[in-house]
Amino acid sequence: MSYMMGIDVGTTGTRAVIVRPDGHVVGAATGEHQPMRMARPGWAEQDPEDWWQATLVAIRSALEQTGVKGSEIAAVGFSGQMHGVVLLDKSRAVLRPSLIWCDQRSQAQCDWITNKVGAAQLIQYTSNPALTGFSAPKILWVRDNEPKVYERVAHFLLPKDFVRYRLTGEFATDVSDASGTLLFDVTHRRWSPEMLSALGIDAQILPKAFESPEITGEITQEVAVLTGLSAGTPVVGGAGDQAASAVGNGIVLPGLTSATLGTSGVIFTYTDAPKLDPRGRIHTFCHAVPGKWHVMGVTQGAGLSLRWFRDNFGYTEAWYGKQADVDPYELIIREAERIRPGSDGLLWLPYLMGERTPHLDSQARGMWFGLTAAHTRSHLVRSILEGVAFSLRDSLEIFKELGIPVEQIRASGGGSRSFLWRQIQADIYGKELVTLRTSEGSALGAALLAGVGAKIYASVEESAQEAIQVKESMSPKPENVATYERYYQVYRDLYPAVQDLSHTLAKLGAGEA
Ligand code: XUL
Repeated sequence: MSYMMGIDVGTTGTRAVIVRPDGHVVGAATGEHQPMRMARPGWAEQDPEDWWQATLVAIRSALEQTGVKGSEIAAVGFSGQMHGVVLLDKSRAVLRPSLIWCDQRSQAQCDWITNKVGAAQLIQYTSNPALTGFSAPKILWVRDNEPKVYERVAHFLLPKDFVRYRLTGEFATDVSDASGTLLFDVTHRRWSPEMLSALGIDAQILPKAFESPEITGEITQEVAVLTGLSAGTPVVGGAGDQAASAVGNGIVLPGLTSATLGTSGVIFTYTDAPKLDPRGRIHTFCHAVPGKWHVMGVTQGAGLSLRWFRDNFGYTEAWYGKQADVDPYELIIREAERIRPGSDGLLWLPYLMGERTPHLDSQARGMWFGLTAAHTRSHLVRSILEGVAFSLRDSLEIFKELGIPVEQIRASGGGSRSFLWRQIQADIYGKELVTLRTSEGSALGAALLAGVGAKIYASVEESAQEAIQVKESMSPKPENVATYERYYQVYRDLYPAVQDLSHTLAKLGAGEA
């Protein structure tokens, strides 16, 4: 029997799944990561070595748990948190902790890039504006602030590509993940010589960019001993977590859209050609389907909002969950069931790590608006679930404005396991929300890309057809749709009304004003 392995290097952990060609996930295991370090508001770092250790745990446990032999794995594929910057010196040692996807410290570098290249040119070269989330501004932050580190940089890698390097000894990436660096020519699917020369970044430090199902290397002998995989097992390019998740959700044809609630929240749609938002509010990236593209809107603090609540106000649930072996999130969300749609006039802005779509604002800050003495903890929880869905609705509105069709929305990510959160999404989007037989999303997508590389499937489209099945569909409730429509109008106007104050407060918080 041939199996495929998908490895998802996420924010909170690295997950390995073993998948049969019919899409059945035979086993999965996760190695946890240390929480991201936030030394200052808006900073976020992790240690690449920690991802590597978690990868070893995940691969070994997945193989052990299933009894699948390394020799039965036809190929390995990746999914990974995007935009992070891993810097290695010439002896291939990690130079500093990784500035990860949600790190917001590089606004000055973004301004510099926009001035240097020109806003319109930037969109022409890379299809996207300069955002603090992307990799190039983070690289320049290191150059500006840690010149001694920067002069030793011999290699730049994205998070999953660091793990690939450890597994195969090769420096490689894939076009979807490379799209989020701001150094990649998304239209022509290659590194952008114009950007490299404008920013003064040496092309030598970049990994080679492959299409997602292409083979980039093989498991080394040393890694075979460490993991139980067989030496020589092919490793394909894989994809950034969102493109991989899209493959795992079958978003490989026009009209199909996914809503993923992980640490971040993403609305993602397939496109046949690069589709640009002239205002840069959504990202235009290469898809993991060779020769295709996608657009996506990103909210920085989706699952993160609920995790922040759990960590700061959910001690009882965390304690009880441990005793009774129940997920504390489930206990917290249960509270929100008793509250009416709209949380009796309470809104949550989920901007805990600035915001991308639609504000492109690293100094956006989160808030509850509308609190009264009548509100309870349960209202706070419900308003968080609603605020995250409102922020994703912002992306759907932009798709509509740009004429990008959205026919069906597929729910994905940890947050989609909650029935209530799915219903809230269906009601706020005003669209049918579909769930799939497996909710593995990005790790499944990574495994399917491996299957294409191993020629188990003829194409990514065929892998989706063979392996992905719809489980159930949830319709929006008309009375809730009408209520949420009214709330959404207030939500939409809220941040623009306080944006200047948010910036002042962000500066005060950072000790800069
Ligand atoms: C996508 C993005 C997130 C991260 C972490 O642009 O930033 O999906 O990859 O999940």
